[in-house]
Amino acid sequence: MKVAFFDAKQYDIDSFNACLSGRNDIEITYFETKLDEKTVSLTMGYEAICVFVNDNLNKEVIDKLYENGVKLITLRCAGFDKVDLSACFGRIHVLRVPAYSPYAVAEFAMALLLTSNRRIHKSYMRTREYNFALNGLTGVDLYGKTIGVIGTGKIGQKFINICKGFGMNVICYDKFPNEALGYNYVDLDTLFRNSDFISLHCPLTQETKHIINKDSIAKMKNGVMIINTSRGQLIDTEALLNGILDRKVGSACLDVYEEEADLFFSDKSNHIMNDKILRELLSMPNVIVTSHQAFLTSDALANIADTTINNIKTFFDGTYNAENEVCYHCPNMANCKKKRKDRCF
Ligand code: NAI
Repeated sequence: MKVAFFDAKQYDIDSFNACLSGRNDIEITYFETKLDEKTVSLTMGYEAICVFVNDNLNKEVIDKLYENGVKLITLRCAGFDKVDLSACFGRIHVLRVPAYSPYAVAEFAMALLLTSNRRIHKSYMRTREYNFALNGLTGVDLYGKTIGVIGTGKIGQKFINICKGFGMNVICYDKFPNEALGYNYVDLDTLFRNSDFISLHCPLTQETKHIINKDSIAKMKNGVMIINTSRGQLIDTEALLNGILDRKVGSACLDVYEEEADLFFSDKSNHIMNDKILRELLSMPNVIVTSHQAFLTSDALANIADTTINNIKTFFDGTYNAENEVCYHCPNMANCKKKRKDRCF
């Protein structure tokens, strides 16, 4: 099987090559470039492609992939919001890695929360210049504070466990609440009004786009901290910026950003930053931005490579795990009316 691998970084190449070591049934060509309308011609002669979170698989790209004979899109991530599934339907299968390490993302979300709350990013810089003053570094105890968690799936659950370990009062919202988990589910308004911290762990869908917006921010407690390790478009970033400027939002921790596609995962340190909103956010003392690194642990990378290679192999020998397939009609296959036996594809 010949696989075209887009947006390849050295850590991807290392983990995939380690996983392929000793086998010769899969041949991967690594392309540094992202997949989009301009680069899709590179897929000619490949049966499968492997993409990541910021490759753009719109209808035009999907049509071209189909024309080029690509049969399989493997996502080396969980989110599939950049894939036009309706354009794929009946033509190209889409397999993903539904879970590779929910711990990696949940632990990173808590790392951001702790760093921001206790101003560790500030004290790190200060002590390097022999500034041992404590002014401006005051945080709050997490014990007894209320955290609102939106999305109680694999990552949300791990994050809630961590929060409970700190003695926090956890309230949650999920469109499909899992009552068996015994969580304190509330409606979104109640979550917005009562949370000292809000952490996002739901997927990006039409419904969740800008779930954090001007109106929801207006309902929040003064000084609320917002943590987003999910997808940038869950937050209307301009509204967030205004919330910070109005002193309504106390702090924001963003591992993902609405306009991250052309910025994140690359070194832009020698470029003038054209993105005004990001520039302004980065100038704020109470904002931490990381570049979509929550997933980045060696354990997660090994699991991603292992599941992706297995998805490719089993797809072509007809034994693949339908749980890993995303389909236009039932995106996470959870509500598949055909019970995954006789897929509608
Ligand atoms: P999951 O599918 O296990 O859980 C998602 C939860 O969100 C489910 O409980 C679902 O019912 C809920 N949900 C769906 N629609 C909703 C809505 N409209 N409102 C509220 N809740 C809704 O997914 P998992 O593995 O927990 O991942 C969550 C998200 O984290 C992914 O969709 C992805 O965007 C993001 N992610 C970010 C990474 C990073 O490196 N920053 C790495 C991996 C995932």
